Order: sequence, then C-alpha cells, then structure tokens
Amino acid sequence: MILIVDFGSQYNQLIARRVREMNVFCRIVPPTVPVDEIREMAPEGIILSGGPASIYEPGSPSMDPAVFDLGIPVLGICYGMHFMVHALGGVVKGAKKREYGPANLDIQAPGTMLAGVAENPTPCWMSHGDSIESLPPGFSTTATTANTPFAAVENPERRLYALQFHPEVTHTREGARMLENFVKKVCAAKPSWTMENFRDEAVAEIARQAPEGKVILGLSGGVDSSVAAVLLHRAIGQRLVPIFVDNGLLREGEAGRMREVFRNNLHVPVRFVGAGRRFLSALSGVADPERKRKIIGRVFMEVFEAEAKKIKDVKFLAQGTLYPDIIESVSAFGGPSAVIKSHHNVGGLPKKMKLSLIEPLKFLFKDEVRKLGAELGLPEDMVWRQPFPGPGLAIRVIGEITARRLSILRKADTLLTEEIRAAGLYRKLWQSFPVLLPVKSVGIMGDQRTYENILAIRAVTSTDAMTADWARLPYDLLARVSNRIINEVRGVNRVVYDVSSKPPSTIEWE
Ligand code: XMP
Repeated sequence: MILIVDFGSQYNQLIARRVREMNVFCRIVPPTVPVDEIREMAPEGIILSGGPASIYEPGSPSMDPAVFDLGIPVLGICYGMHFMVHALGGVVKGAKKREYGPANLDIQAPGTMLAGVAENPTPCWMSHGDSIESLPPGFSTTATTANTPFAAVENPERRLYALQFHPEVTHTREGARMLENFVKKVCAAKPSWTMENFRDEAVAEIARQAPEGKVILGLSGGVDSSVAAVLLHRAIGQRLVPIFVDNGLLREGEAGRMREVFRNNLHVPVRFVGAGRRFLSALSGVADPERKRKIIGRVFMEVFEAEAKKIKDVKFLAQGTLYPDIIESVSAFGGPSAVIKSHHNVGGLPKKMKLSLIEPLKFLFKDEVRKLGAELGLPEDMVWRQPFPGPGLAIRVIGEITARRLSILRKADTLLTEEIRAAGLYRKLWQSFPVLLPVKSVGIMGDQRTYENILAIRAVTSTDAMTADWARLPYDLLARVSNRIINEVRGVNRVVYDVSSKPPSTIEWE
C-alpha cells in the first residue's frame, strides 16, 4: 500500500488514481495522522501531496517530521516538497510570484525518479508560489527549469524524493513514468490491486462483518448501489434485502430495467416500492430547489423505513458510498466542495434505525466500481450509466413539478439520450440531459402560432463533477436533437443549448 498524505491539493485524488492504475492500493489520509499509526499501517511508500498553502503561513498544514525517520520511502510533491525540505533543514523561499502552467524540465542527472524519461527537456506542470532556496544535507538536484533551480531533488540514501512540479497531471508528459519509478522501483510495491482480488476480499470481509441477520440496502438505479447489492448478494445471499423506492422521478423505463436486470440477469430478489404519487403530492406547489431536495429526502426516508420495518431481523444497512465521498468528508481542508456536496446524498439514511453500516465500496473510485460491476456480471448499460442525481427529474423540471411537466421532460430525455448514444458520445460525456424551463416562448408550427415551453440541453465533460466543461457537441447533432424534440415532444417549441462551465455554473440547474 502507498499512503498519500493530503495537504489539500486539488490533485490528490489524481495521485491516488495514478497509483491504482499501476494496480497498487493506496489510501489518502490527512496530515494529522499520527506517525505511530503510519508505522502500523506499514505502507511501502508515502507521497506527500501538494497544497494551496504557503509553508510560512500560520496554520499551514504540517505533520510530524518523524515521518522521514520511519525508513519508508517518501515522495514530496510541490507543497509536500516544501514541507520535506523545510523539515529537514533546507530553506524554502516565500512567494513573490506564482508560477503556474507548463514548463520545460531540464534533466541534469536522472537519478532514481527521472530514470527512463525519454525526452530531455520534457514538459512538466507547475503550480506553486514558494520555491526551494537551499537543500537539506544529503540532497542533490536532478532537474531544473528556467524559473526553478530545484525542480527535482533527491536523497537516495534515505530514499527521500521531491518534485516541484506535478507528475500526476497529464501535462507532465512523462509523469506516469516518474510515479512508477517511485512506486515500483523505490517502494517495490506489488501490483496486486485488481478488481478480481478486491471482489474476493470484499466478499470475505462482508461475510465477516455481517455474520448473521439481514442487511438492507437502498437501490437507486445507479451504478454504485447496484454494484454494492450484487457484491453483498455474493457474500450473504438471501440475507441481503435490497429495497428499490420508485419515486416517480426516474427516467423513462428505468424502474422496469432495474426490475428486469435484478430478477433475470442477477437473480437478486429486490423489494420494489412504487411511491410516485406520494412524492408528487408532497412536491405539489414547491418551486424552491432546496425545499424539493428536503421533501424528497424526507419522503424517501419514510417510505424506506416503512418498508424496512416489514422485514424481520434487520441488523445492518449497506450503502454504495465511494472513496471520494469519504475523502471529501474527512479532508482536513475540505474547501467549499465539501459543503456543496453535503446535500447530495439523499440516501443519507435512517439514523434512528440503529443499524450498523456496511460500505463495501468505500475505498473505490468510480472507474473501479464500474470495473467491479462488469466483473460481477452487471450489464453494460448499467455499468456505464451516467451519474443521475438522487432527487432525479425533480430538479430538472425548474420550478413547480407536475405530472405533465415530468412527462414532457421524460420524453425529451429519452430522445436526447437516443441521439447521444447514436452519435457514440454517451460514455464520453459525464452527463447529458434536458432541463424544462418555467418560461414560455412564441413559435410557429404549420400556420399556427404556438406559445409553449423552452427546453435547455445540458451536456458536460468532467472527471469528478467538481469541475466541468460544456461539451462541444457537433452542430449537426444539436440540430437533430432540437428538431426531434420540437417535433416529437408536445409542449416544447424551443430548444436551447447551455454553454456554461462549472464553476461558476453548476452541472444541474437547480
Ligand atoms: P452540481 O449540479 O452541483 O452537481 O454541479 C454535481 C454532481 O452531483 C449531482 N447532483 C446530485 N446528486 N443529489 C445527488 O445524489 C443531489 O441533490 C444532486 N445535485 C446534483 C449532479 O448530477 C452532478 O453529477
């Protein structure tokens, strides 16, 4: 295992993914983790992440410098480098000017970290204020850039390495090789992290965690809860009782597809609860997005609890929580993102039920969950489903929700998805969906003046939903989508395309 210490970098999850791409397990921990605990975890190597702070700022993140005396190899990246140099007796210079963007790395002597890098100079990505002024004893420089005389340094005797630039981002062209030098050569970590191994270990672990009693799980229709359900079913069979609450806010055919897949392909019995009317009446007259979310969360809880009460001997609650969810909530420097996301998990579940929690996916990233899903036999269309918000179509019918408006949106959604799939773009886009606006506009159809709804199309690319860019969809595709929606969906006479990125806009409109 490689331990990644989170000094607050926006890139720390990327570091983790790069390590896992080498089939090596890694965990992200806050800098407050005691060194004794690190010793117990016995990682093969430690990576100190970058971070937005300056080492001289009061309250800047810091950890016990005894980490450098454990005899475990350490790689410091950016802020992690400054921390290492400062702690070991070198000098870090305060920021006069930030250096941000591409730079050329001149390799003086490849040493360990830069061994096998094909190009010299090679492009790297800088993002720092502070720089190193002098090195601690025992360190030497292996590379420089025009602005940074200490771009890569190392002390091979103590197995300490540090990079001023970010090897984890793709702009550092040979960054993957550098990280591999550390993980595979220096740390000699074995590539044993595969989804097949994970599956077997997780099945054994679940059986250990829940040796008797029933386990309930809320299925949402999304990838995470579906994969969790199949995994749990493997481990404890009929003692797993998945509950699917159809809130009437799902996409066309979605509930039916769930039923079919779980019954016919996976042979996992699911309790289906149709509660569409109840949700719709609770939402009647409500236009405010946060109120919508609260109502949906509350009604979900009521329906779920009522169903769970019918089951005897329930001891556990399982959830498809992913690694990014727990990293965000423990992140020592969880910036605004931690707050923004807090309302997202409508599945934030019945505390008063006093059940022990089982979260078998809590160390996985989304792409790993997809691999695991495929491994477990989930069909392709479910494994590759785009993310869908818990409150469903309720937050895509802007303003008041009615059965009619939901139906308009649902039809448009089906058409849009069909066209996106036909264009081969479904998997490339993070999300693509229509939004029904509470604004009418004038149109002309045949000889008739119309006064109907406007529908906006949202399509974004992203890797984690924290940031997103509007997708440059081909004009011809947009033309087809617009044409089909206006012709085939009654109640819409105008289609517009959303060209806003996140930030400052969000992905959803509500
Ligand atoms: P925003 O709109 O904040 O969305 O850019 C980021 C990601 O989160 C999803 N999303 C939600 N998911 N409950 C959820 O489970 C919610 O209330 C919710 N709101 C947004 C959104 O679809 C995107 O993937």
